[in-house]
Amino acid sequence: MVSHSGLLTVMERAARKAAPRLRRDFNEVQHLQVSRKGPADFVSMADKRAEETIVEELRKARPDWSILAEEGGEIKGDPDKPRWIVDPLDGTSNFLHGIPHFAISIAVEDPHGSQGKPEITHGLIYQPLTDESFWAEKGRGAWLTDQRLRVSARRDLADSLIATGIPFLGHGNFAQWSRIFGAVAPEVAGIRRLGAASLDLAWVAAGRFDGFWESDLQPWDVAAGYILIKEAGGFVTDFRGQDMAMQRNQFLAANDALHSKLHKLVANALR
Ligand code: IPD
Ligand code: CA
Ligand code: CA
Repeated sequence: MVSHSGLLTVMERAARKAAPRLRRDFNEVQHLQVSRKGPADFVSMADKRAEETIVEELRKARPDWSILAEEGGEIKGDPDKPRWIVDPLDGTSNFLHGIPHFAISIAVEDPHGSQGKPEITHGLIYQPLTDESFWAEKGRGAWLTDQRLRVSARRDLADSLIATGIPFLGHGNFAQWSRIFGAVAPEVAGIRRLGAASLDLAWVAAGRFDGFWESDLQPWDVAAGYILIKEAGGFVTDFRGQDMAMQRNQFLAANDALHSKLHKLVANALR
């Protein structure tokens, strides 16, 4: 049985504290679909409540750390200490429509990483409905509870299942996404758009998906997943193939062989 560090214990405790209420709210949402307005307000309350619970737990454990959370924005702490990056509910549209695919994502960013630049050092993606806890710690690997994770070993695009996020309602670059889709789809076994970027990334780390691309994400969507894939032996770059995914807000992730093949397709498509 592997045990994770104290920080991950804090992260997992926070996620598990918010999860029961999210599960109850999700069940409630299924009954609200029939009302004309739907459960939108109810879900935004559920989202806020989950964030409050998580933030309260994290602040209790590390009162002087900054927090970047989707709903509450930035809470400034000691700039020399790490900061928490929190998405209390990733996959909101799924949740809203009663689709059981959403997660809580929590990461730690060290402001003075190995090259003196901000660096993600810990990530946790917790799926309340399946009780799956994906976690990674810099230099200590990526794990699903106590099972070590590796990215998939597939080497042929023709065998690979690729996840993506599709731009929507005034969000993202549809023309760019379409060009990439047009180049990748004919070469691979399938494309999936499951609607929770954190889980797309966790599932690449777990070898369930062979690759992923999406742009215009927020730090809370991707911070935990980013370190999960790296620690699972995968590559995460921007669309130019550079180690600038977080900075450029473009994510192309896969194992080494598939990453270089996908990158070629993407580079051609965007030329
Ligand atoms: C969204 C999901 C989705 C991605 C969107 C995100 P939310 O986050 O991660 O997969 O395509 O760009 O905004 O709104 O469900 O937390
Ligand atoms: Ca999100
Ligand atoms: Ca969210």
